[in-house]
Amino acid sequence: RLIRREDYCPPAYWIDTVDLTFDLDPAKTRVLNRMRVRRNPDQPRQPLRLDGEDLTLARVLVNGAGTSFRIDGAQLVLENLPEGDEPFELEIFTTCAPEKNTQLMGLYVSQGTFYTQCEAEGFRRITYFLDRPDVMATYSVTLRADKARYPVLLSNGNLVEAGDLEGGRHYARWVDPHRKPCYLFALVAGNLVCRSQPIRSRSGTDHLLQIYVRAADLDKTEHAMHSLMAAIAWDETRFGLPLDLERFMIVATSDFNMGAMENKGLNIFNTKYILAHPATATDTDFANVESVVAHEYFHNWTGNRVTCRDWFQLSLKEGLTVFRDQEFSMDMAGSPSARAVKRIEDVRVLRTAQFPEDAGPMAHPVRPDQYAEINNFYTVTVYEKGAEVVRMMQTLVGREGFTRGLKLYFERHDGQAVTCDDLVQAIADANPDSPLARLQPQFMRWYAQAGTPRVQISGQHDPATRTYTLSLHQSCPPTPGQPHKEPFVIPVAAALFDHEGRLLPGSERLIVLHEPHTEVVFPDVDSPPIASLLRGFSAPVILEHPLSDDELLVLLAHDTDPFNRWEAGQQLLLRRALAAVRAEGPVHAPLDAATLQALRAVLRHPTLDAAFKELALTLPAHTYIAEQLDEVDPQRIHAVREAMRTQLAHALHEDWIWAYEAHQDSGGYRPDAAAAGRRALTGMALHMLCLAARDSGNPVWPGKTYQRFKDATNMTDRYQALSALVSAGHELAERALALFHERFRHEELVLDKWFALQAGAPDRGGDILPRVQALLQHPDFHLRNPNRARSLIGTYCHANPAAFHRADGAGYAFWRDRVLEIDAFNPQVAARLARALDRWKKLAEPYRSQAHAALRVVAAHEPLSTDVREVVSRALAD
Ligand code: ARG
Ligand code: ZN
Repeated sequence: RLIRREDYCPPAYWIDTVDLTFDLDPAKTRVLNRMRVRRNPDQPRQPLRLDGEDLTLARVLVNGAGTSFRIDGAQLVLENLPEGDEPFELEIFTTCAPEKNTQLMGLYVSQGTFYTQCEAEGFRRITYFLDRPDVMATYSVTLRADKARYPVLLSNGNLVEAGDLEGGRHYARWVDPHRKPCYLFALVAGNLVCRSQPIRSRSGTDHLLQIYVRAADLDKTEHAMHSLMAAIAWDETRFGLPLDLERFMIVATSDFNMGAMENKGLNIFNTKYILAHPATATDTDFANVESVVAHEYFHNWTGNRVTCRDWFQLSLKEGLTVFRDQEFSMDMAGSPSARAVKRIEDVRVLRTAQFPEDAGPMAHPVRPDQYAEINNFYTVTVYEKGAEVVRMMQTLVGREGFTRGLKLYFERHDGQAVTCDDLVQAIADANPDSPLARLQPQFMRWYAQAGTPRVQISGQHDPATRTYTLSLHQSCPPTPGQPHKEPFVIPVAAALFDHEGRLLPGSERLIVLHEPHTEVVFPDVDSPPIASLLRGFSAPVILEHPLSDDELLVLLAHDTDPFNRWEAGQQLLLRRALAAVRAEGPVHAPLDAATLQALRAVLRHPTLDAAFKELALTLPAHTYIAEQLDEVDPQRIHAVREAMRTQLAHALHEDWIWAYEAHQDSGGYRPDAAAAGRRALTGMALHMLCLAARDSGNPVWPGKTYQRFKDATNMTDRYQALSALVSAGHELAERALALFHERFRHEELVLDKWFALQAGAPDRGGDILPRVQALLQHPDFHLRNPNRARSLIGTYCHANPAAFHRADGAGYAFWRDRVLEIDAFNPQVAARLARALDRWKKLAEPYRSQAHAALRVVAAHEPLSTDVREVVSRALAD
């Protein structure tokens, strides 16, 4: 039941045109599908096998006449097709039940509006089809529906006709001029309003941009529209890629399995990534909207104009498009240090989510070799590690070279469905003298081998020859199905500093490690230097670089690469954390005076950005610390992090007061990077001041925080004040939570925050699980809404390790019951939740045995979706 990459075979038939007519009805929607089909002459003669799922078949006609057919599993099989290679008309009439579609794949209803989600294999839930991305067709679509209930009728392309029908119904006909795979098909029908924006592009063509939402949300669409306009301008400037549509539409829905979807000309978004108003959205929300709007827009070229041959190539579009949205956000951030902040945030995601994935039972290459359910492979590995692989290509060929490479890629492959090899080939061919071109077959191992490579460093200074020799040694641990790894091509950006923190002139260079072991000699080095390596995080690897604490302190104070400056601080904190986790006995004050002093210097620094300071003072994540250990006691890690946090709160008390007061904003809310950084730092200061007050009993700062919570003029400040009270467990927290609910009970996305804040609060004596269980019964909790389910259950299981990993195993029992409960109606959401126990084998007792027991119950359950089965059976495999 595994699908294997090596089994790829081109389709036996092509579908050139598709004409779809929908009679939309929530209970029973009728779909008439008229296709022009022809045999693929390059393949042996065989029956036509069309995919279908949860469809009721009413009629099949070939060239207007009835034909014999059979159903084989989920496929409709046609054997008696016309002889020869001439195209023929295939007409299929089916019905489906959108209101019963709880999986949210295919055609479904949310709050009385019809939406579709077809990637990866949802189109087969709409009509019988060759549901694979290498079959590209031209679509025309007629939508018919009740006019009062569904005044807006949208599909891909251009509106060519619309009008009234009998019985209060109306219709609209859409024609998409671009050929596309069926996973990019979309329709929307409902009662929506839109923000419209005509634009003229650099090349002088006119376009209409539209964002469709519920009437009450119209005032939350301005930021998304600005982001879209910025993304369009950026893609033209940076890569010469223009908007190829007269009309570009975005529609938002509250019920969506993922973040958003790049359907040609009709993107469909989770409301979470479109709606943003200062009163209801935080700075993080604003930044996410900007980045996801850009991401989906960028897919119009990287994904839609050039698409994937098969789903194993998913990173061809996702890795490349994440890379592009990261670059966009960096360019939007502006200053070099704001760019570095974005880079640090992206690397944190990689380390806290992708590194664990790459070390666990679900580890897979950026281009997987097999899957049971493709939806399980929309992962941080395919997306974020895939983006790092593209970034390494840019590093190896240079920024200009990379732009040249993409240009060649589009010259060669526009309109085609291709593979990851084709992308690398184009970039290498456009840069024939680059290390990428020289090492291309070896570079492809990034797509083929799973696991995070390790690079061990040692350095030797020779005063006689005034040289510094750096030795680099690479290795990669085994991953499931891949016991042995071949060496990777690893670009290591390097520079040397002296012990006063001065950059040694001429020492900056890019080392391209490709052998298992390499030595690099730096000339003209008078005294033992400090090497700053993997600058800007030039490769997705784990660096084992035995710098002394003093050397790390020098880099933290002076490195000219802001990323490595941050990294030096993180390494210091990580060392302290690991030492305290490994020590015997009760946890006590993990941070030493020198580290505290260095962090104070960062906080008080006259020129560093507030956003950078906030990141530098953020402790390494729980999961990141856990990854460094062979055996994980989640309670111990939690206790150590809490102790470190408490120390920071007390030792830097005066500095936090200063930071809070020095970074206040006056004037209106603006979501730009500089203002957001100041708010992030004041928010952190409030957390620390409330924490210190918890121990001292001094009510001043909790009181000020509560006041700030009430008086805040934007959601960022309000939410941070609320969360500072909740984190400190202050008695005012309950009052603030109640007020917050009262005020925002009609704002779905704010309610999600309210649930998440409670599910993610620090555990005190096991109080979080009962609270989460009580919240399941709250009238505002809706299990079937993916955002709401994730905000309560997902936050508890994925983002609150101390509350989840309970010695009594009750957290795992809760996980088990929710996975099974959700799996019965939405396997995709259930499978994400199922991954919360990926790393169970690393857990210490009693956690390990209890997690194992919960996993076994899920694995043995009948029925179980393919999605969840794949996740838990991989977790249980040895
Ligand atoms: N292509 C979308 C994006 O990354 C994600 C769609 C994933 N959908 C799914 N059902 N797995 O922009
Ligand atoms: Zn994407």
